[in-house]
Amino acid sequence: MNIGVLTGGGDCPGLNAVVRAIVHKGVFRYNYNFFGIRDGWRGLMGEGAISPLTVNEVSNIHALGGTILKTSRTNPYKQPDGPAQVKKVMTKSKLDALIVIGGVDTLGVAAKMHADGVKLVAVPKTIDNNVWGTDRTFGFDTAVNVAAEAIDRIRTTAEAHNRVFVVEVMGRDAGWIALESGIAGGATMILLPEFPVDLERVVQSVVGRHERGGVFTVIVVAEGTKLKREGGEPQPVVLDAQRDEFGNVRLGGVADKIVEAIAKQTGFDCRAVRLGHIQRGGSPSAYDRVLATRYGIVAVEMIRAGEFGRMAALRGTKIETVPLDEVAKSTKTVDPDLYEIAEVFFG
Ligand code: F6P
Repeated sequence: MNIGVLTGGGDCPGLNAVVRAIVHKGVFRYNYNFFGIRDGWRGLMGEGAISPLTVNEVSNIHALGGTILKTSRTNPYKQPDGPAQVKKVMTKSKLDALIVIGGVDTLGVAAKMHADGVKLVAVPKTIDNNVWGTDRTFGFDTAVNVAAEAIDRIRTTAEAHNRVFVVEVMGRDAGWIALESGIAGGATMILLPEFPVDLERVVQSVVGRHERGGVFTVIVVAEGTKLKREGGEPQPVVLDAQRDEFGNVRLGGVADKIVEAIAKQTGFDCRAVRLGHIQRGGSPSAYDRVLATRYGIVAVEMIRAGEFGRMAALRGTKIETVPLDEVAKSTKTVDPDLYEIAEVFFG
């Protein structure tokens, strides 16, 4: 059996740990042959991007950030004859099946490809933790730890200067990183894409906190948080309106907008910090290494069992499988009960 492995979308810590687990399990247990597909779906649309993936190549990569296979945000359904091209390249490269490791966009393509006749199984990755059907994506734990550590550091300088800090973390349509890092870091307010924000209320809440004796404030905001505006729908703050092949714009700058409003109305000394890709780079946490490894092992078992068109998913403490067409229907937004816990500390 020849199996192609690809990583698509934004990278995240743990991708290499999955690839290592897949190859070790598949080679030693079932004698499968693996092929690394370079640059995500793009690698299946051209020539020369597919090469054998051996145990030697994946040895000792579990702690490495990024992905040895490289990645891209390519959508074959946006290319002329894209899906046909993918099938052609698979046939030419003698690939019997694929293991697709990706987030919401990549998995959406995987669901369509499977419906179009490609044999594949999927593994959920993303720091955003917004993939429907799984309790956790790998990469998320590392990102939360990085963000929580950053918030801890910001807290001490905020306190030293009696300042208001607004820390912007990643999270386009789901505020999981903001919520968990904010709780872990003791944020005085957490703002998420799930709940549009009235800037006036944020300002009033900072004023109230300072009147009650608070000398500093640390607000955590997800980059996709929408700001309410008069006479229109709430909108996120966009850094670059140009859309990628999945229709995503580049978000960024909501922390600056919030800081601007607070500084203007209160005169408090305010700073905005955007953590950006620091959250996505670097070595995976031990939790993410273990989760990624478990996903990789199950992905090979799914191939073995012929469970195509499904995704490995963490449900409670067990790895189960869920249908990809269900995964592709929605994203997983934050748990309102967890937000209620965070709110206890907003004052
Ligand atoms: O991979 C998810 C993500 O990290 C989002 O949280 C963020 O909006 C986006 O990727 C950034 O993408 P890029 O690296 O293409 O700027």
